Amino acid sequence: MRRIAEEIDYETKNIMAIPLKSRDKNIVAILEFLNKEDGFQEENIHYLSIFNPIIVSTIENISMHYQREKEIKKLSAMVEVSQKLGSTLNLNTLLKLIMGIGKDVLNAEASSIFQIDEEKKELYFVTATGKKGKKVKTIKLPWGKGIAGWVAQKGKTVYVEDVEKDKRFYQKVDEKSQFKTKSIIAVPIKTKNKILGVAEVLNKKGEESFSNEDIEIFEAIAKQAGLAMENAGLYQDLDELFRGTIRAIVKAIEAKDKYTRGHTERVTEYSLLIGDEMGLSDEEKRKLEISALLHDVGKIGIPDAILGKPGKLTDKEYDVIKSHPKRGAEIMSSIKQMSDVLDGIKYHHERYDGKGYPEKLKDGKIPLTARIIGVADAFDAMTTDRPYRKGLPTEEAKRRLIENKWAQFDGEIVDKFIKLFSDKEKLKSLQNIIKSAKDK
Ligand SMILES: [Fe+2]
Repeated sequence: MRRIAEEIDYETKNIMAIPLKSRDKNIVAILEFLNKEDGFQEENIHYLSIFNPIIVSTIENISMHYQREKEIKKLSAMVEVSQKLGSTLNLNTLLKLIMGIGKDVLNAEASSIFQIDEEKKELYFVTATGKKGKKVKTIKLPWGKGIAGWVAQKGKTVYVEDVEKDKRFYQKVDEKSQFKTKSIIAVPIKTKNKILGVAEVLNKKGEESFSNEDIEIFEAIAKQAGLAMENAGLYQDLDELFRGTIRAIVKAIEAKDKYTRGHTERVTEYSLLIGDEMGLSDEEKRKLEISALLHDVGKIGIPDAILGKPGKLTDKEYDVIKSHPKRGAEIMSSIKQMSDVLDGIKYHHERYDGKGYPEKLKDGKIPLTARIIGVADAFDAMTTDRPYRKGLPTEEAKRRLIENKWAQFDGEIVDKFIKLFSDKEKLKSLQNIIKSAKDK
């Protein structure tokens, strides 16, 4: 007692201390009165004890209010996270949003998610918020290293108040990112039977440390991140199955004709290389891939006698051939999930100058996927053998594409395609596709 008085520079002469008990007889606080001039009397204690229930209930109310505030904080964070869950399909965007909420609700400096790469035996950042977020994302964590590595292996939450005192802490991430980690909550991201990654929140702002409440809230947030990762994984598996099925069907259709064999596969590869060069988003590239795979599906209904005719086609026969983009779109229109790829199928024979078919659409009115497929389709048609002629050399086909810029083709797309040939890596991919046509 004397020490407290010294510290606050206050001299205590006399003291009256009364325990405040709740209804269930637990002491919830001690009430102290100091320095009554003529000293405390028994009646003072009696007098105060009358107010005891009022004081106790006030304290209880305040603490309940505080508890409720925490509950509300937790609940609103969860509502915000679950709203985000339904807002976008892109996993990275979603995880970034979720971790942003985690960082703000816990009043922390940064938050991040590591994913486990089982093959390479390392952890890598899928998202990192905070000032050094971008720098951090290039860093990999060797298997079992660091607090995150420990959490990934043990599957248990860890709270470290001072990382300098924890042997598990892996200094190198801080060295590379120039972020000074002080405290960490690290939570495993689990699905039913697997650990997918680790969510971390770093450095509580201000004087406070992370509380048990914070840990609980962050565990709930990590659970949501896990759900998002699991859903995205399921979606990806289904989508791969979907695309694989389309590839197999298209391959089976093409197999009977040695001239068109592999055509759609090659057109798809060329289209995706162009799409990459144009900086299309993942969603746009997916749409482009499926449209390209199915661009000639309308040829199913065209008799082989016309499709494989070695000589010149009559006008009537040519009209039948020209019906394939529309037919293709019609066939696919019965499948709900195909609605966003119909454009690419229907308009891949439109020309930039409006002289194409089926609707004579012009310039920008032709959907982008159809314009890309148009260039890829023409290049493959020119460089491969037909019943009535040999395939052209690559350089000649490139020259013809350039010659037809802004007439048959969107000039910008031709430029992007031609540019691919000057990149060493991409040239290799192109040569492999061209070669695959010769090997068939
Ligand atoms: Fe076609």
